[in-house]
Amino acid sequence: MKLKVEEAVLEGLRTGEWKEGERLPSVRVMAERLGVHRLTVLKAYSRLEEERVLESRYRSGYYVRNRESGVGLPAGGQEGHWAYAARPGYRNRSRLSDIHSFPVMYRMSEALLDPTLLPNRFLASHAKEVLDRHPMVLSTYSTVMGDLALREAMAEYFRVRHGIEATAEEIMVTSGSQQAIDLVSRALVKRGDKVLIERPTYSPAIDLFQQQGIRMLPVDLTPEGYDLGRIEELMRVEKPRMFYLNPTFHNPTGYTVPTVQRKALIELAERYSCILVEDDVYHDLYFDKPPPPPMFYYDTEGYVVYIRSYSKYIAPGLRMSMLIARPSVMEAIRPIKALADAGTPVLAQKIFHSFFFSHRMQEHIEKLRLAVRLRKEAMEHAFEHSGWKWRSPEGGLNLWIQLPKEISAEQLLARSLELSAAFVPGSICDPFGEMDDWIRISYSLLGEKSIAEGVERLLEAAESLPSRNSN
Ligand SMILES: Cc1ncc(COP(=O)(O)O)c(C=O)c1O
Repeated sequence: MKLKVEEAVLEGLRTGEWKEGERLPSVRVMAERLGVHRLTVLKAYSRLEEERVLESRYRSGYYVRNRESGVGLPAGGQEGHWAYAARPGYRNRSRLSDIHSFPVMYRMSEALLDPTLLPNRFLASHAKEVLDRHPMVLSTYSTVMGDLALREAMAEYFRVRHGIEATAEEIMVTSGSQQAIDLVSRALVKRGDKVLIERPTYSPAIDLFQQQGIRMLPVDLTPEGYDLGRIEELMRVEKPRMFYLNPTFHNPTGYTVPTVQRKALIELAERYSCILVEDDVYHDLYFDKPPPPPMFYYDTEGYVVYIRSYSKYIAPGLRMSMLIARPSVMEAIRPIKALADAGTPVLAQKIFHSFFFSHRMQEHIEKLRLAVRLRKEAMEHAFEHSGWKWRSPEGGLNLWIQLPKEISAEQLLARSLELSAAFVPGSICDPFGEMDDWIRISYSLLGEKSIAEGVERLLEAAESLPSRNSN
C-alpha cells in the first residue's frame, strides 16, 4: 500500500505533474485520490521525506524538495553545533500539524485546552458589549503598538501583579506569541547569526529560526535548569545574538528554571550582550503555587524581551499576546510589526480588554487550574504501572516522558495512530532532531475518562511493537 503511494508520487515527479518546490496534494486529498487510508499516505510522505525526495513545511504540507537549496540552512551552515539539519534524524517539524490533523479519537498531541474549559460564553457576551459600545470598531485599524487603553491597563496589571515596571510605550500587543517570536527575531537577528535555543524546545521556534536562516546553538534543559557553564562558554565563543527560552512550565518538559539561574542568566546576558527572549505563555497555568517571577522582573539593563500570551487559557482564536521590551529594542521591533500587519485587530483587543479585567476572569482561571490539575493527575495515574519515566510538572499542559530504551517514539507514533491515539515524538522538539526516546503528551484537551482510554491505547501500541534492538 505504502509503495503504491510512493510510486504515485515518483511517477508524478517523472511526468512533471509536480516540479521542484511545488506542494503535493494534502494527505487527505492524496488518500482519496488513491483510495487508501490517510495513515498510509502520511507514512509514505514521511518515508519520501527521509529519502530527501520531499520536504515538509510547518502547517503547509509536503513539497518536492529543491535539491539546490539544501535543508534551509545558510551556505556554510553544515558544520559545528548548528549542523542539526544535516543529521540523518532531522525532519521538518511540519509533521506536527500532520499529527494534529490526523483524525484520531484520543488527541494527546496538542497542547491546547479543551474548548469546554474556555470562557466562550463570557467572551461572546463581552464581544457583543464591545460591538454595542464601539459600533465603529471594525471600521478602523489599530495603532501599530496596539490599543492604548489596553496597553495602559496591562502596564498597571504587570506592575501590580508582578512588580514589573513598564510603560504603555514599552508594551506592544501582538497577534499571539508566535508572531512576537517572529518579530523579535526579524528585528534583532540576521541570516547567518547565531541564537541559543533550549533543547528540547517549542518546535515552531525551531522551524521559524531555520526558515530565517539563523544558526541554532542548542542548550540542554534538565529538571535542574541549565548548565550555566556551558551557556557562558557558548556566549563567549560563539557570540549568539539572542537566547530564545521558555523558562516557566516549559513546553515540552514542564520544567521551571529556578530563580538563582534566572538571575545568573541575566548577568551572563549583560556580560556577553545577548538578548534573552523570554516566552512566558504558561505562567498562569500553575496547579498549586505561582512560579517564580519572570526573568524580565530581574532585568535592569534591558536585556530581556518578555512575551506573555493569553492564547492558552482565554482564547487561542483571539491571538492575543503582549510583548514588553525597553525602548532601544522596541524601536527595532515596531517597524517590523508595521510591515507584518499594521497592528493586531482592534476588535480582538477590545474583547480581550473587556474580559481580562472582569471578575469572570479570576473565577475562570481558578476553576481552570483545578480542572487541568485533575486531568494531569488522571494521566499520571494511567501511566502509573507503565515503567515509563517523567518528572511531574507543577504547571503547563504536557507530560514529557522518557520511554524504555527498546521503544522508538517514531515507531510508537505510527502504531499508536493506527489505534487512534496521538502524541508528539520527542525528535520534533529537538533542534538536533534526535530524542527518539522521549514523547510529549498533553493532558489538556481530553476529559479524564478519555485520557485513561487514550493512554491505554498508547500502552497497547507499545506492547505490540517489536523491540528497537530486534530491527
Ligand atoms: C512555548 C510556546 N510559545 C508560543 C506558543 C504559541 O502561542 P500563541 O498562540 O500565543 O501564538 C506556544 C503554543 O503552544 C507555546 O507552547
